[in-house]
Amino acid sequence: MSAHASAAAGVPQGDYRLSAEALRLIDREITKYPPEQRQSAVMAALTIAQDELGWLPPQVQEEVAAVLGMTPIAVYEVASFYHMYHLAPIGRHKITVCTNLPCALSGGNAAARQLQQRLGIRFGQTTADGAFTLDEGECMGACGDAPVLIVDNKKMCSFMDESRINTLLDTLAADAAKPAR
Ligand code: FES
Repeated sequence: MSAHASAAAGVPQGDYRLSAEALRLIDREITKYPPEQRQSAVMAALTIAQDELGWLPPQVQEEVAAVLGMTPIAVYEVASFYHMYHLAPIGRHKITVCTNLPCALSGGNAAARQLQQRLGIRFGQTTADGAFTLDEGECMGACGDAPVLIVDNKKMCSFMDESRINTLLDTLAADAAKPAR
């Protein structure tokens, strides 16, 4: 079960709106395309929205649709297709560990076990304190660097042995303990 599926049942209601700064960044992305192709900025716009809110509430998907001149369902189709977009809240930090065969044979399974044991959760779950979501990923194109994982959909971490995983978790836990974004 993916993190998306596990959290989908608990989508919170709220008045979510993008900040002026997020809208400015989206406008900047739109200028990278011809006016009649502003919809091409949809993935960048969703990323900006998610960076700000941590996930993509339906109201914000609609806001993105309005800015790009798209229908809300067209934006939802993009947001729901790609694994890096979250349609429900997740932990402050998401760790996606590769367990495909080449990695599994080179420490990937051990890394996955260590993450699950130390965090006390399984794939697709979020820790009770909301600090971490753990997910299982497909090949990240870095098989020679196994075990590999990606933090927050953005930062690739290679050669993640037991010591490096412990250091990473300590660092992320300290960050998650800071005031919410
Ligand atoms: S199998 Fe893990 S990065 Fe390729």
